Amino acid sequence: MTNLKNKNLISISDYNKQEYLEILKLAAEFEENPRQEILKDKVVASIFFEPSTRTRLSFESAASMLGAKVIGFANPAATSIAKGESLHDTIKMLSSYSDIIVMRHSIEGAARYAAEVSSVPLINAGDGSNQHPTQCMLDLYSILKTQGTLENLQITLVGDLKYGRTVHSLVEAMCNFNATFHLVSPTALKLPSAVKMHIKRAKLKYYQYTSINDAVSVSDIIYMTRVQRERFSDPLDYEKVKDSCIIDASTLEGCQENMRVLHPLPRLNEIAVDVDTTPYAYYFQQARNGVYVRQALIAAILGLR
Ligand code: CP
Repeated sequence: MTNLKNKNLISISDYNKQEYLEILKLAAEFEENPRQEILKDKVVASIFFEPSTRTRLSFESAASMLGAKVIGFANPAATSIAKGESLHDTIKMLSSYSDIIVMRHSIEGAARYAAEVSSVPLINAGDGSNQHPTQCMLDLYSILKTQGTLENLQITLVGDLKYGRTVHSLVEAMCNFNATFHLVSPTALKLPSAVKMHIKRAKLKYYQYTSINDAVSVSDIIYMTRVQRERFSDPLDYEKVKDSCIIDASTLEGCQENMRVLHPLPRLNEIAVDVDTTPYAYYFQQARNGVYVRQALIAAILGLR
């Protein structure tokens, strides 16, 4: 195992291809044996300035199953931040109270800033519309499990490609594996040029569409995303695009047998419930995989694997 001890995970490009593969291998070991007391003298701080179900609870579950104590908050209004305490001072305190910090924040760049202030390693659990590297690791794990490889796949990304931090991280990561990208979104939510630059630099192919129907038959993975109301400053702009990329079971007719639908969740209406009972739905198993991948990350960053 490469030495990931004390290595922050703020952006997916902070780790390299070999490190992704080592984390995925370790995650598979934790999936076999998720309850081990390897963190019994460790304290994990879980601090969430933005709402979360999966990321926060799977991190806390991952740490608890390994015997760690978990401290933190999911509601900053109940902390001294409500009295005006800065992020700087909050992180200073938390790094005195814990061995590792997991942080979600609404401001892009907040995780990088917090990592500079912290004296213990920090994992970005999502910063605004920028990056969500641990979701990306579990997405890679889910793709590997369903396809048997990460190499040479046709990856279709659907929905809010502009603000979707999970999409931004996944595109960057899949550029290491010779992917071809199919980008499906309304024009207003196209993948930002800065993210497309990673595809261009890797000399990989991408195609842009406004309808999912044009990409279904070629896809190995269809990665659905929610149009995120909370990222729009004008509610009318949200209304215009919110129903633009929806799939149901009939949309998937003609897909390849190996194709799987992923979604970081939560979903609204972009995946109809009739998809859940098709062999293509993988989003609930994907969320479950988050526990093992986050166990692998905590154990590697704390130098215990
Ligand atoms: N996938 C994800 O980040 O979900 P939560 O917002 O519930 O953590």
